[in-house]
Amino acid sequence: MKYLITGANGQLGYDVKKQLTKRGFEAIGTDVSDMDITDGTAVNEKFDAVNPDVVIHCAAWTGVDAAEDDENKSKVYAVNVIGTKNIANACKKHNCKMIYISTDYVFSAVGDEPIKPDCKEFAPLNYYGETKYLGEKAVSETLDKFFIVRIAWVFGKNGNNFIKTMLKLSENHTELRVVNDQIGTPTYTYDLARLLIDISESNKYGFYHATNEGGYISWCDFAKEIFALTKKNVKVIPVTTEEYGLSKARRPLNSRLDKSKLKENGFAPLPDWQDALKRYIGEMNI
Ligand SMILES: NC(=O)c1ccc[n+]([C@@H]2O[C@H](COP(=O)([O-])OP(=O)(O)OC[C@H]3O[C@@H](n4cnc5c(N)ncnc54)[C@H](OP(=O)(O)O)[C@@H]3O)[C@@H](O)[C@H]2O)c1
Repeated sequence: MKYLITGANGQLGYDVKKQLTKRGFEAIGTDVSDMDITDGTAVNEKFDAVNPDVVIHCAAWTGVDAAEDDENKSKVYAVNVIGTKNIANACKKHNCKMIYISTDYVFSAVGDEPIKPDCKEFAPLNYYGETKYLGEKAVSETLDKFFIVRIAWVFGKNGNNFIKTMLKLSENHTELRVVNDQIGTPTYTYDLARLLIDISESNKYGFYHATNEGGYISWCDFAKEIFALTKKNVKVIPVTTEEYGLSKARRPLNSRLDKSKLKENGFAPLPDWQDALKRYIGEMNI
């Protein structure tokens, strides 16, 4: 099977391409320099040249707070909605499978009930989430052979993430305020890449949720574990989202993604997030 990966220089795309190659698949990675997904002609030309069997669409505008700025909104829409529609149209033309990576931010569930992948109560609180939801719609309304995989709190080797931010801040802070009322589970791109390849080899199309296992935690719990494992002497002070107050974008408090559909369909779940974090810190030589 021949794979085309969008966003191959980003956190997830990088690991997906690497693991596909390791598993012996032909994997063509693209990024904005050789296929700007907002340019329909460029997308069609690339698809005609590659003729993929499967597309793993990792490219996106991922700056959640920057997406709130009026001057960025048309760019965010172009990448996350029009770009995704261009990819879905090309997949239809080439009759190939498409995996679209989405986010917990398409929901704003209250309470503490985990959200099922087939839940249709979409209510994004921020512009990034709204455009990712419109991207989901573009995929599901264009294709039959699609997988929409929602993930959360991503960390990987390439690009920025919460772990890198915490470690950077630890260089000149001995105390950090971190929110303790947004609850979810982190996702290590290395572990997710394996699952995405497994999913892509099946015909079990539809919606999935995928993060690491190990239970639901707050950003505050995550920060504490990061500093404990890296032996940084930083005091983590728990604060509510309201007390923290700084972010441009609103974020849901309940980001608990129910992943039981993975096992029900015979897919191996991801390892625990604690184990993933340990491996990541080792891999990054921190
Ligand atoms: N990061 C998270 O916490 C998180 C959480 C939930 C879901 N997700 C989803 O997971 C997926 C992967 O996220 P990630 O963290 O790996 O993102 P990332 O590191 O920001 O990578 C996204 C990639 O997309 C590329 N890209 C941006 N605009 C493009 C365009 N017009 N044409 C082609 N490529 C373009 C970026 O290139 P440049 O860097 O050159 O702009 C970058 O390489 C995304 O769909 C994201 O929405 C992420």
